[in-house]
Amino acid sequence: MPNNKTRLAVFCSGTGSNFRSLHKAIAEKPLDAEIVLCISNRSRCGAMEYARENGIAAAHISEKQFVSFDEFVAAMLDALHMHGVDAVMLAGYMRKVPDAVVAAYHDRILNIHPALLPKFGGEGMYGIHVHTAVLAAGETESGATVHLVNEEYDKGRIVRQERIPVLKEDTPESLAERVLACEHRLYPAALETFLEELKAAQAQ
Ligand code: GAR
Repeated sequence: MPNNKTRLAVFCSGTGSNFRSLHKAIAEKPLDAEIVLCISNRSRCGAMEYARENGIAAAHISEKQFVSFDEFVAAMLDALHMHGVDAVMLAGYMRKVPDAVVAAYHDRILNIHPALLPKFGGEGMYGIHVHTAVLAAGETESGATVHLVNEEYDKGRIVRQERIPVLKEDTPESLAERVLACEHRLYPAALETFLEELKAAQAQ
């Protein structure tokens, strides 16, 4: 029987809790997809450990390893093609995806951002910096956004959001923790819809 599952790569830079939640959702639901590759700009991080422990190919691909940006991009595209990747999920990837990769996977790259885009996105807005900015702006709600990735930071079409209240006593860390819990619900749900859309597009 041919395996028609959508082959996914995750791009990560850190703990990888979103990667884990996607992997768990795919196994439990079950969703018609499999995570076949983890790419990270860091050789050692929670996400890469998780990939290795779970028999998922783990590729350390960082700009620093290459003499030119073009070679870095070629290595990334090679890894994606070698593993027959159909679509990419950014899960705590703290680098901009090269334009050539965005072009090769047009409308097939999703990102999760820890705020309600279009607010609190763009260069420098990642991880704890986002939550610090949300509190500094006196926002009464925050949340998470899943969006398609285009050539501009955090600007692609929004596919799903979930809101949570900001509490008076919140610190950037406490807000980050509650937003992350929200991300772990949101990203698997968005993946489900995304997979249906990919299948529908393929059938056309
Ligand atoms: C998550 O909150 C994710 O939204 C954020 O980094 C965290 C990674 O956690 N991503 C960004 O800020 C990207 N702009 P994880 O490694 O445990 O999934």
